[in-house]
Amino acid sequence: MAEPPPDVSEDECLPEYRHLFCPDLLRDKVAFITGGGSGIGFRIAEIFMRHGCRTVIASRSLPRVSVAARKLSAATGQRCLPLSLDVRAPLAIMAAVDQALKEFGKIDILVNCAAGNFLCPASALSFNAFKTVMDIDALGSFNVSRALHEKFFREHGGVILNITATLGMRGCALQLHAGSAKAAVDAMTRHLAVEWGPQNIRVNSLAPGPISGTEGFRRLGGPPDSVSRKVQASPLQRLGNKTEVAHGALYLASPLASYVTGALLVVDGGAWLTLPNDPGLLGRGEPPSARL
Ligand code: HXC
Ligand code: NAP
Repeated sequence: MAEPPPDVSEDECLPEYRHLFCPDLLRDKVAFITGGGSGIGFRIAEIFMRHGCRTVIASRSLPRVSVAARKLSAATGQRCLPLSLDVRAPLAIMAAVDQALKEFGKIDILVNCAAGNFLCPASALSFNAFKTVMDIDALGSFNVSRALHEKFFREHGGVILNITATLGMRGCALQLHAGSAKAAVDAMTRHLAVEWGPQNIRVNSLAPGPISGTEGFRRLGGPPDSVSRKVQASPLQRLGNKTEVAHGALYLASPLASYVTGALLVVDGGAWLTLPNDPGLLGRGEPPSARL
């Protein structure tokens, strides 16, 4: 069985990296990565840059992406432009894409990685709580894809990679909002692959499983004893790491996947096939009355 590649749990670059793919796999490419200042998005930016790519990392917090960009450039020697945007705000997205194009002259790859999530039973989700996650994950992915299509991909082709999740595949307690939003994005992947394929735009989804050292896992993992039971019962019997997700993203973004579009790559060690729902969580999470 393959050993996992090394990773570090914080938003830091890897102290060392052994290339498994050719080091110039993304030479001269430019990637625009939403949510690239932390967690999985940060590691995707790093692995892309270690393969010759320049990056734009964009999220709401300018200090967060600015600090991340400095670390990424120092570790890889590639340029990284930090930009502030909210994926729910089309005008800010258009301005950020303009700025990225001004800086680099082109964008080859879009990674929609920005997302928001928390554990909450459906009966306690306020209208606005459900809407907020749908807005960030589903509308946000559409907004950025649409802006980039308009401003560059329609004329020049490109690659779109949507980071989704397996939550909606079987249904999952306390995750109605995120499961619904990510399922919508997986559908969007297939629709856009069909509509934009003739313009030489590939569109794919990558769904990570439980990934160590991430905000997502900190928020959703649950109590350590239950995590370890569930992980032990999954096919590869361990959590994944951010480098493993980034390697899947690298494959899909690169010419290695030149004939792959409309696909969903699940990077979860087989976990979604076996992960049990925990009905005990429902009892713990249910507040006395639902807030609307
Ligand atoms: C119930 C909640 C809540 C919670 C917020 N809300 N947190 N409801 N339980 N824990 C409600 C609020 O009360 C409000 O509704 C509405 O959601 C919007 O909240 P805001 O704080 O105003 O939203 P905003 O500032 O836009 O922040 C978005 C956020 C926040 C999602 C709520 O947590 C965030 O910015 N997250 C980004 C980082 C993140 O979540 N990373 C993890 C991604 S992991 P009312 O009705 O009161 O107005 C991921 C993993 C998936 O996606 C799969 C893992 C296996
Ligand atoms: P994370 O570090 O919290 O990443 C989310 C990023 O999105 C943050 O950098 C955040 O930065 C940005 N963001 C949130 N709302 C935004 C908005 N409205 N506009 C622009 N940017 C926004 O979490 P993660 O765990 O690494 O998750 C990364 C991706 O992997 C997400 O798509 C998530 O759904 C997916 N995923 C994760 C796991 C896991 O185990 N961690 C499992 C399955 C899927 P700002 O706060 O600065 O905006």
